[in-house]
Amino acid sequence: MSVHQPNSKKVTTHTLLAMKQRNEKIAMLTAYDFSMAKILDEAGIDILLVGDSASNVMAGHETTLPITLDQMIYHAQSVVRAVNRALVVVDLPFGSYQGNSKLALESTIRIMKESGGHAVKLEGGAEVQESVKRILSAGVPVMGHLGLMPQSIYKFGTYTVRAKEEAEAAKLIEDAKLLEELGCFALILEKIPAPLAQEVAKILTIPVIGIGAGGGVDGQVLVTHDMLGITKEFQPRFLRRYLNLFDEMKNATQRYIADIKSQDFPNNNEQYQ
Ligand code: KIV
Repeated sequence: MSVHQPNSKKVTTHTLLAMKQRNEKIAMLTAYDFSMAKILDEAGIDILLVGDSASNVMAGHETTLPITLDQMIYHAQSVVRAVNRALVVVDLPFGSYQGNSKLALESTIRIMKESGGHAVKLEGGAEVQESVKRILSAGVPVMGHLGLMPQSIYKFGTYTVRAKEEAEAAKLIEDAKLLEELGCFALILEKIPAPLAQEVAKILTIPVIGIGAGGGVDGQVLVTHDMLGITKEFQPRFLRRYLNLFDEMKNATQRYIADIKSQDFPNNNEQYQ
């Protein structure tokens, strides 16, 4: 196993475009708090996403819908304080941009001013184009998100693979082209067939980053809590776990409890005389 040695230059949207051009894959993870963001940034991650998946993994909600703009800003502030190198992208939460481009701009301006994040991400194609245009007109970089869009879970009805049918795949390609034309700097493709994702990555000049979209795209993103095995129940085919932290942390906690009960902790060296 080789360990990646990142250079220390700050990652910008231009860096990511150059990475695609020289065929260097982009590594992206989610972060919601200072301590985790510091570890991931020091490890050399290219993009940190303050994802609305915080609604699931931090707050324990079943969907991403309940998280508020204020809560997203709080998470983003904590992440930005930790980061020296990575580009920090902040999700616009459900209800903060759909169907109202003025609201989309207001939500974005709050995120940028109050958190110090570097870009925003939103879900959807043609339906959200007015919001994308208005945010971009204020000089804020926008990352798109197509395929499985968790904010639309009640429309989809399930979290299964999207765009397997021709009509949905064709709309996804049109939406991807539109988002690039409007000026998005990158695109997330979630849970779609690998050949379709590869086709989109070939058509677009902007980086296409996949989650459950195969290896033919320009980079990969996972939810950090899934990648580290802090979450246990979520086991989709696309997930590679690098640790089993749930069990390791549970075990450490059990040892801590046992040491207290047996009066082994604290020992003489762990107290003041
Ligand atoms: O909120 C999130 O974590 C995301 C990723 C799954 C891309 O949008």
